[in-house]
Amino acid sequence: MIDYSKDTLDSGTDNIMSTKYIPEDDAEGSLRPRTLREYIGQEKAKQNLSVFIESAKRRGEPLDHVILHGPPGLGKTTLAAIIANEMGSTLRKTSGPAIEKPRDLAALLTNLEENDVLFIDEIHRLNRSVEEILYPAMEDRQIDIIIGQGPAASSICIDLKHFTLVGATTRSGQLSSPLRDRFGIDLKLELYKPEELRRIICRSAEILNVEIEPDGALEIASRSRGTPRIANRLLRRVRDFAEVYGDGVITKDLADKALRLLDIDKSGLDAIDRRLLMSIIENYGGGPVGLDTIAATINEESVTIEDVYEPYLLQQGFLTRTPRGRCVTRRAYEHLGIPFAGNTPDLGGQTSLPM
Ligand code: ADE
Repeated sequence: MIDYSKDTLDSGTDNIMSTKYIPEDDAEGSLRPRTLREYIGQEKAKQNLSVFIESAKRRGEPLDHVILHGPPGLGKTTLAAIIANEMGSTLRKTSGPAIEKPRDLAALLTNLEENDVLFIDEIHRLNRSVEEILYPAMEDRQIDIIIGQGPAASSICIDLKHFTLVGATTRSGQLSSPLRDRFGIDLKLELYKPEELRRIICRSAEILNVEIEPDGALEIASRSRGTPRIANRLLRRVRDFAEVYGDGVITKDLADKALRLLDIDKSGLDAIDRRLLMSIIENYGGGPVGLDTIAATINEESVTIEDVYEPYLLQQGFLTRTPRGRCVTRRAYEHLGIPFAGNTPDLGGQTSLPM
């Protein structure tokens, strides 16, 4: 018997609320929209993208290179697949850390067929020598390859087929300017609104043959930290509770009970979010405190806190970033049922100060 009253979520990388892709999400494949029309949310990015795709198709040219940025789990891979599908092209997928040497990337690029879409996830993690191969490839459809070594080495220039590079990054600040400047289309993905996630959950439930009431879907949506990957994962877990404890139908009441058992509170915070906020309150008087200090205190990596936990806590106004460090807000004190100490900025709804 599992004791659900304890914090069972002790790693930021493999719990149910993690935005990181886990093998269970393979089922996500069948839930992924294949066209822009099916894709819910991200209205601004979608609207612009549909114009660029339509215009490229009318000119009979490949789409300009695209950089997608935003927190993990928001659908960057899905959008890359949609771009390829809408352009009638083939998608080739890889990731920054998987391309170790310049020659690995050269092999990938020279094997592309006309109008292929090359998707590089976590493109900010490409090493500099690999990245430099991309510059002429993106700009002039050419790569220079060095043959031989030492004084006998010579360089040959290879022409590439027309292709579209789609890069995805959770950290656009880490992209070098020469790389960033070579993307003609820059799309920023935002955390989803509960109503958008509700529609995504209803669509997924239909595909999975799960009966769900609109209020039940909204309950899951508003506790999915703005992220479709988490929403779809919670849908599957809540369905398990509905089958075992109910008649298989996901109602608002059932969703609420299941999510409480999964230790996800009304605002969608999980045990790690609460531990993070509590540790700033208990150890640093609510802040300001530096990111690395928080990370050491709660035994998580700074990048995990910054990429996975902070976006939602900032968006919900539980945390602020100030030039002197992170501060817990009055709203977070109230949410955690702790009297507000009054020594942290009350930003009146403003969630972030300029750094
Ligand atoms: N499944 C995951 N993300 C989705 C989205 N943005 N629209 C529709 N279904 C989805």
